[in-house]
Amino acid sequence: MKFGNFDIEIRLARSKDAAGIVTHWNENFKRGFSKYAGTNRPRNKIDARQLSKSLALKKKNDFVFIAIDRKAKKVIGTSNFSARDKGRTRHRGGMSWEINYRYARLGIGTALVKAILEEAKRRGFKKAQAEVAVENTASLKLAKNCGFMIEGRRKIGMLLDDGRYVDTYTFGKVLK
Ligand SMILES: CC(C)(COP(=O)(O)OP(=O)(O)OC[C@H]1O[C@@H](n2cnc3c(N)ncnc32)[C@H](O)[C@@H]1OP(=O)(O)O)[C@@H](O)C(=O)NCCC(=O)NCCS
Repeated sequence: MKFGNFDIEIRLARSKDAAGIVTHWNENFKRGFSKYAGTNRPRNKIDARQLSKSLALKKKNDFVFIAIDRKAKKVIGTSNFSARDKGRTRHRGGMSWEINYRYARLGIGTALVKAILEEAKRRGFKKAQAEVAVENTASLKLAKNCGFMIEGRRKIGMLLDDGRYVDTYTFGKVLK
């Protein structure tokens, strides 16, 4: 798929993608681009190994989609869906998403999240959920673009690196 001048492939992540995924996350972290994401430290080799192992399990209820720049052969976006494997909330899963800062604002994030939502539906899940800091404009727009609805506002839902607590919106989307 073409986004700007980039030829982008979107697909399910495999075990061997783990190192590229971690590099992408760390590039954003260093740049300060992922300041509203849940993780507040760079990932290391141990994280990459754990991710590789987890992707190798090919779990039905915990999976990652990636966007790849075909020419650069580089992971430039990630989105995950993770649900419990049993219990009364097993029909719904939490999501996150992140696009490399050099590839932002081209529509890749929206396309990636739409693709993983389709896969979640195909796997029989009934609902996707996400939590977004109220000042994370790009992510709020992306969630709305993809059909998520605000279900609530969590007071001091996130502690930012500058020491501020910000509220978060909880989003939900029924998959049908
Ligand atoms: C959120 C994120 C994934 C969006 O990725 P993207 O590829 O830029 O998204 P898209 O190009 O599909 O744009 C989605 C919408 O956000 C808007 N947008 C993107 N970046 C924006 C910015 N910096 N400021 C304002 N709006 C922005 C786009 O204009 C579009 O809105 P529109 O359809 O109303 O025009 C990306 O900004 C990112 O990775 N952020 C850092 C990680 C993060 O915060 N993840 C979410 C944690 S909940």
